[in-house]
Amino acid sequence: MSKLENTCIVGLQWGDEGKGKIVDFLAEKYDYVVRYCGGANAGHSVQIDGQKEKFALHLIPCGLLRPGVISVVGNGVVIDPAVILHEVDGLRQRGVEVSPKNLKISYKAHLVMPWHPAEDAAREGNVGGGGQVIGTTRRGIGPTYAEKMHRSSAFRMADLLYPDELAVRMESIGKVRSRTLQEQYGQPALDIPKIVTQYHEYAKLLAPFVTDTTAELLEVLDQGKTMLFEGAHGFLLDIDHGTFPFVTSSSCSPLGVCAGAGVPPQAVEQYFGVIKAYSTRVGAGPFPTEQDNDLGNRIRERGHEYGTTTGRPRRCGWFDAVAARYAVRLGGINKLAVTLLDVLGGLDELCICTGYELDGKRLPLFHTDARVLNRVQPVYERLPGWKEDIGKARKFEELPKSCRAYVERLEQLCGAPVGMVSVGPARGSTILR
Ligand code: IMP
Repeated sequence: MSKLENTCIVGLQWGDEGKGKIVDFLAEKYDYVVRYCGGANAGHSVQIDGQKEKFALHLIPCGLLRPGVISVVGNGVVIDPAVILHEVDGLRQRGVEVSPKNLKISYKAHLVMPWHPAEDAAREGNVGGGGQVIGTTRRGIGPTYAEKMHRSSAFRMADLLYPDELAVRMESIGKVRSRTLQEQYGQPALDIPKIVTQYHEYAKLLAPFVTDTTAELLEVLDQGKTMLFEGAHGFLLDIDHGTFPFVTSSSCSPLGVCAGAGVPPQAVEQYFGVIKAYSTRVGAGPFPTEQDNDLGNRIRERGHEYGTTTGRPRRCGWFDAVAARYAVRLGGINKLAVTLLDVLGGLDELCICTGYELDGKRLPLFHTDARVLNRVQPVYERLPGWKEDIGKARKFEELPKSCRAYVERLEQLCGAPVGMVSVGPARGSTILR
């Protein structure tokens, strides 16, 4: 049997494409699952075998649920220590083994400090930011990545290994941040001594997991071990190639995987794009195919389209093949997974956006500038829907004809073959093609 290809799984829309289910489905075949971008703004609910209640993971790769798989939190991730420790505790309480043997955190990953969520919320509340409201998750993601670029005032996981130096830097930098929060954003002062004590506590608990993940990944690549790179968010939220400024602050497209995971370019052999059978978006920003009407409400309820991290209702609309094709081409996507296909069941007719018009002219390509994207008119192709419940289908041929035609049309329009179709939330509700 030929070796499994090292694969990157990435969402091609505005996040929430159901990547978690695909990663969970594939993880057991791989030796390593590596997260490479974002922070506690991402989230997916996981079902632990034999347990009814779902558990939300924001930072820990879901490979951890698979015995024998090593989960790596790469250098490109920004880590809120309280959140990751809550996940470690939650998993252990549910009987999942979490130890430095199966969870490794890059010493180069940056830390979310208490002033980052405070700044995020203050800027979003527009009490001092002066810019546009992005509709962030308020987890401090943007301010932490901005700090990384500032360098001198940033904190990394490695800093947790030097508690004395950590205290000195936290006191001096924290004082300045506290003053800025008060003066610029009208926020309360930070209790610096309390925060230092808290971070010392986090340091003790997290230090055993902190390691040189790049050194380990390089070594095991040489040994032929296999890797699954777990994307977060979605292509259209990428800081450079998404619908700026309504994006997140990391390189969450496939273009960011090697830098964020800390592996050489040839380590990733396949790019697997996940598309939801329709579109959703949380927070502000352009969304040409949005259905802010009964249809959008129906999709939201049937698809349980509420944020895992914030609980916010997601905006819903038709599949946008112009945007998806852009993500497939720029992301070098070799294969597609279509998720939540069952949600579209029962509709007489389905629409796919196959082009945009701007000022009466066809726009040849996707354009990420919000000023352009806000004004485009979607051009729709109409396809017949299906009435049957497809949740029990396990082979592509078992799907109704119009459902297969819908998937085949997505494939043609996106420009990559569909290798997997998900027809329900359970692990088993997956069709391989
Ligand atoms: P931030 O990442 O919290 O700064 O939020 C920036 C934008 O990205 C907001 O519109 C968020 O709703 C969106 N966003 C960030 N992460 C995710 C995700 O995992 N799924 C969906 N939207 C996300």
